[in-house]
Amino acid sequence: MKKKLLVFTGSPRPDSNSAILAREAARAAREAGASVEVINLSRLRLNPCRACDRCRDRGPGQCVQKDDMKKIYPRLKEAGAIILAHPVYWFTINAQTKLFLDRWYAFGGDEYQCFKNKKIGLILTYADQDVFTSGAVNALRAYQDIFNYLGAEISEMVYTTAAGPGRIKKNKPVLKEAYTLGKKLVS
Ligand SMILES: Cc1cc2nc3c(=O)[nH]c(=O)nc-3n(C[C@H](O)[C@H](O)[C@H](O)COP(=O)(O)O)c2cc1C
Repeated sequence: MKKKLLVFTGSPRPDSNSAILAREAARAAREAGASVEVINLSRLRLNPCRACDRCRDRGPGQCVQKDDMKKIYPRLKEAGAIILAHPVYWFTINAQTKLFLDRWYAFGGDEYQCFKNKKIGLILTYADQDVFTSGAVNALRAYQDIFNYLGAEISEMVYTTAAGPGRIKKNKPVLKEAYTLGKKLVS
């Protein structure tokens, strides 16, 4: 059976550097024979988690909210691998991506079983020259805790400075890193 990879991009801007890297990873995974879907979170209608805990009675992935997470929950469950690709905003995970992660709470009723042993790839871009002063390191630290808690494995990460929209296209080494990330995630 084909491996399923879901790629979530979190940047709202056109010609997004993190999305360009994500598409490079997606291309590699497709070439390796995987079934790949790229989803732009900023185009979805997503509400924040209401912390109502109704999902705890209704079952894993059964959030009461009627928004675009309804179609994402079953796909998240099925995927063998997930890539999260987004810019660093205010020294950590950007809001579009964080809101999406909060909604994973709906899988908590069975201790997040569906995340066990999933492979995770992370792609982060930021304007600062340095992984520490940019705040990317805070996002990476949070992901270590998140995926450790969920029982998923961070297999690969690519993080890089990238200022103006589309600038990353000139950075061949990092495009190659993103390609390798995509390939390894489905191998
Ligand atoms: C609201 C906002 C907050 C940002 N905060 C940071 C930051 O804390 N650290 C940083 O290095 N870059 C910051 N940036 C710059 C972006 O991370 C950077 O331009 C990134 O490459 C954009 O990725 P994208 O092209 O995928 O949108 C910020 C940009 C915006 C719009």
